[in-house]
Amino acid sequence: MDNASLSRKPPQASELVADEIPEAVRDHPYLEAGQSQSKKKGLIWKLLGLAALACGVSIWLHLNFNLFPATSQAEQTQQNPAPVSSPSASVASPATNPKATAPATPDNLLGHLPYPEAPANDLVSVTPDGSVKLRTSAAAKYQEMANAAAASGIYFAPISGFRSLQDQQHVFFDVKAERRQNASKRAEVSAPPGYSEHHTGYAIDIGDGSAPEHNLSPSFENTEAFKWLEANAVAFSFEMSFPKNNRQGVSYEPWHWRFVGDKQSLETFYKAHSMKK
Ligand code: DAL
Ligand code: ZN
Repeated sequence: MDNASLSRKPPQASELVADEIPEAVRDHPYLEAGQSQSKKKGLIWKLLGLAALACGVSIWLHLNFNLFPATSQAEQTQQNPAPVSSPSASVASPATNPKATAPATPDNLLGHLPYPEAPANDLVSVTPDGSVKLRTSAAAKYQEMANAAAASGIYFAPISGFRSLQDQQHVFFDVKAERRQNASKRAEVSAPPGYSEHHTGYAIDIGDGSAPEHNLSPSFENTEAFKWLEANAVAFSFEMSFPKNNRQGVSYEPWHWRFVGDKQSLETFYKAHSMKK
């Protein structure tokens, strides 16, 4: 070897063009690693490109054809469960919190449904002093029912029948203010004006003449009058409007009964709201 050869450093791979790479150097491990790294980089870029393309295509499909909805049907149903329908207001629900299951309908106010006022010319008294009135058909049947109970030694005390919107205004708002109740609390025991069954002239609050201390109280259920009504009212087409755990979320009112014994009364309580209660 001459001096020039001795002093010459072996060429660095980066300084060589392919044809210039000597056989021995081509197989050098560091060169192989460099090549494989650059192959890997190429592969990664290809994969990234494919992923970006797939993303773009899926966004385009979603925007144009909604092929990949963000939320499944099942999830949507869970988030917005369909309203529960109830056959009638007098059918008790096993729900522990009836208000939670009361369907939100446009005409439902705090669990109460709207009712029209009975025409004044169809109201007749069921008490000697004229303080409690019902529509003619309901009054006749009520009288028949009270007579049948009396024949068994049970005396009904009619407490409240037809109530005008103005009467109900007092019952709801004035009493609410006196008792310092909020609207929701008041609505558990009283309907807002325009939403009381008492407007129809088909509903009546009944007490036991022999046990007035139970008037308008859940303990009315312990009276002989209530037991008689429970067993016999259906024969006179009267039914309890607010049994325990009713779907409307109204408190249990064993004293409040409604007449459903003719076309008009039946339609009043069942037809208009049958799909909503
Ligand atoms: N107590 C019943 C709900 C009414 O006020 O009509
Ligand atoms: Zn009542």
